[in-house]
Amino acid sequence: MSQPDKSRVKARYDELGGKLYNVRYMEEQTAKYEHILAYLGRGKTLDNGCGTGLFLPFLDQYSVGLDISSKLLKEAREKAGNRALVQGDSENLPFRAAVFDNMVSITVIQNLPSSNKLVAESSRVVTQNGTLVISSLKRVYSEDEFSNLVETGGLTVNIVNDIENINDWIAVIRNTR
Ligand SMILES: C[S@@+](CC[C@H](N)C(=O)[O-])C[C@H]1O[C@@H](n2cnc3c(N)ncnc32)[C@H](O)[C@@H]1O
Repeated sequence: MSQPDKSRVKARYDELGGKLYNVRYMEEQTAKYEHILAYLGRGKTLDNGCGTGLFLPFLDQYSVGLDISSKLLKEAREKAGNRALVQGDSENLPFRAAVFDNMVSITVIQNLPSSNKLVAESSRVVTQNGTLVISSLKRVYSEDEFSNLVETGGLTVNIVNDIENINDWIAVIRNTR
């Protein structure tokens, strides 16, 4: 599989813009959220690659949304309420170690040139035994490829879900680093 180019990915989402993103993807993304919420623990969550912030209203008020696209983050402002929004890169998260209880990353990892860095960085910023939930498009990775990817760094993958009519694999990982 050819590796995505990060600046092109950013430009693509910036050009699309938040309003069009929501028109195109809100329904598809929302269908994933109830399945993901079932696995997330309580507490402060990082929404890693939050896009237009569709998932943020489901999260604790001290949660944080991070995305590389300033245009999508602008659209996220309203949905975020008092939650912080940060422009940044999932491969190099601008946070200290172990500051979040959970991390969720929904349909983001397939956009990254070094996708295993998202897993390593997410593990770094989440507390010991916190929960990581990572989803990725089934059409980009086979189930085995996705399982291997999220297992990098010796983390304990509890489950990889294959839910009918949901376009993503959903991995639930306990942060046992
Ligand atoms: C398919 S969208 C998913 C957005 C959101 N999670 C949702 O459920 O609507 C993929 C998101 O990944 C973001 N993204 C892509 N590469 C990134 C990177 N290197 N760092 C942070 N965000 C990135 C894009 O800007 C976009 O918002």
